[in-house]
Amino acid sequence: MHLVDLRSDTVTRPTAAMWDAMRRAPLGDDVLGDEPTVTELERRLAAMLAKEAALFVPSGTMANQLAIRCHCESGDEIVAHRDSHIIHYETGAPAALSGCMIHPLDGESGLFTPEAVLASRRSRATYAPRPSLLVVENTHNRGGGTIWSLERFHAVAHAARSLEMRVHVDGARLWNACVAAGYAPAEFARHADTVSVCFSKGLGCPVGSALAGPADVIDRARRFRKMFGGGMRQSGLLAAAALHALDHHVDRIAEDHRHAIRLATGASTCRGISLAIAPDHTPTNMVFLHIDPTICTAQELSDRIARQGVHALALDPQRLRLVTHLDITTAGIDHAVEAIRSALG
Ligand SMILES: Cc1ncc(COP(=O)(O)O)c(C=O)c1O
Repeated sequence: MHLVDLRSDTVTRPTAAMWDAMRRAPLGDDVLGDEPTVTELERRLAAMLAKEAALFVPSGTMANQLAIRCHCESGDEIVAHRDSHIIHYETGAPAALSGCMIHPLDGESGLFTPEAVLASRRSRATYAPRPSLLVVENTHNRGGGTIWSLERFHAVAHAARSLEMRVHVDGARLWNACVAAGYAPAEFARHADTVSVCFSKGLGCPVGSALAGPADVIDRARRFRKMFGGGMRQSGLLAAAALHALDHHVDRIAEDHRHAIRLATGASTCRGISLAIAPDHTPTNMVFLHIDPTICTAQELSDRIARQGVHALALDPQRLRLVTHLDITTAGIDHAVEAIRSALG
């Protein structure tokens, strides 16, 4: 049976060439400061994002939480879209690890306006929380893999700075945004203080993320990484996979985006399915299907297609998320569409 795992782009397995790169990597001990492959990756990523320094970490969650810990003090407020990953999927870590509260902003598909940022302004009274950080997610996961344009990001970053806030980009899928929108990572990162990126999503690595930013912030993040339990030893094994992915897996992301359009287009012709984003405007590698509640729930559809080897995530009672990635072929997409069609009758 065809196995088509569309739950997330995190499910990819290393390719043979990636395993070879991992096997060949010179290794050291990163906590002791002599891991040559990690050092090479950190240098390369800092250059790609035009930042002074970068830090390799185990997960995107840790990269975001290190940024929050470095930029904010206990009692501060973070401004972010209400559908942000840091709100929904990071176990309340901003409160637990940094003592911060979050001011959620509204906006279509995970994007908001400079006016919304300005409206989050607080009084400077001693009793008011201090908004110190704006977090922008690009691409926006719960928003449907949506992309921030350079202009829009510049405008919200400018608004945040006018309120004396710093700016962090959750760029777990910045690569997807860059490939789809045609801007370079450094062009986008220019308006941010810090940027987190993941190698374990669209780039197809088994593990690994990074935080890039000013040297003094990254020095502090290195200390907090150890404090949070993220100091790693022969992590060059993982950094080698990331270096390989930067060389070989960035441009091919365009294929994942073509697959997402093919999937959205096919699924949109199935009974009881509607899409908030028109199929041919699917921005990157995510497809969200809304299922007519008189037919079934997202979980029931997920269970039915799983019997045909197609795996997806029920995000909400009527919303199913499917994500394309390196291990998905065109035949797999077509199989998924037929599985959805037959599951809906
Ligand atoms: C937008 C976004 N940020 C951060 C993360 C966290 O990454 P990790 O699962 O490596 O902690 C994810 C994971 O899917 C994500 O989608």
